[in-house]
Amino acid sequence: MEGMVAKWYTTNTGKSLSEFARLARRIANQLPRGSTVLEVAPGPGYFCTELAKLGAYSITGLDISHTFVEIASKKAAEAGVHVDFRQGNASRMPLGNDTFDFLLCRAAFKNFGQPVAALQEMCRVLKPGGRGLIIDLRKDASMESINREVDGMGLGPINKMVTKLTFRTMLLKSAYTKAQFQYMLAQANFRSVEIQEAGIGFEISMTK
Ligand SMILES: C[S@@+](CC[C@H](N)C(=O)[O-])C[C@H]1O[C@@H](n2cnc3c(N)ncnc32)[C@H](O)[C@@H]1O
Repeated sequence: MEGMVAKWYTTNTGKSLSEFARLARRIANQLPRGSTVLEVAPGPGYFCTELAKLGAYSITGLDISHTFVEIASKKAAEAGVHVDFRQGNASRMPLGNDTFDFLLCRAAFKNFGQPVAALQEMCRVLKPGGRGLIIDLRKDASMESINREVDGMGLGPINKMVTKLTFRTMLLKSAYTKAQFQYMLAQANFRSVEIQEAGIGFEISMTK
C-alpha cells in the first residue's frame, strides 16, 4: 500500500517538475556553492535533484519511508547527480548538531506525528546563522484556491479529482493555522522566525 501511494505521488508531482526547478533556482540564488543542505521529508527527492544540478552543494535528504528513499536515490542517479538520501524520522534525526547551512521542508510538515520535536530537531541540525524554510498548506486555504492550484498541476481528469478529494478529506484536516505554527515555533530555539502567506500555503523562514 505504502509503495503504491509513493509511486502515485512520484508520478503526480513529477508533472510539476518546473515548480521544483523554480524553487531550486530561487534557493541556489541565495546559497553559496559548497553549502550543506538538508531536505526534511523529500519524498521522491525532486527538489534535491534539481538543486544538485545547479551546483556543488552537499545535499542530504531524510525521509521516514524506505520506499521513498529508494525512489529518490534512483531518480538522482538517473539524473546523474549525487544526493545522500537517508531513512529517518524528522522528529529524531540521525544527524549531527550544527551541520547544515540551509534546510527545506516542503509539503510534509503537517504529516509529522511530533511536529514540535521536528522543529527542535531542525534547529539542532542547522549551523548557527543557518536558515530553514518550511512550505506547507494553510488550514484556512479556500477550496476555490485549492481547486485552482490543482487545475494548474497538469494532471489528467481522474488524478485531478483524486487530488482535490485528498486536499479536502485529508490534507486540510492535518494542516495548521498561523497561530498553531506560532505556538509550535515558540518551543524551538530559533533566533528569528517569519511566517508569510503564499498562495494556498505558508512559507515559514527560520534563522538559528
Ligand atoms: C507529500 S510528501 C512530500 C515530499 C516532498 N517534500 C515534496 O515536496 O514533494 C510527504 C513526505 O513526508 C514523509 N514523512 C512523513 N512523516 C515523516 C517523518 N516523521 N519524518 C520524515 N519524513 C516523513 C513521507 O514519507 C513523504 O515522503
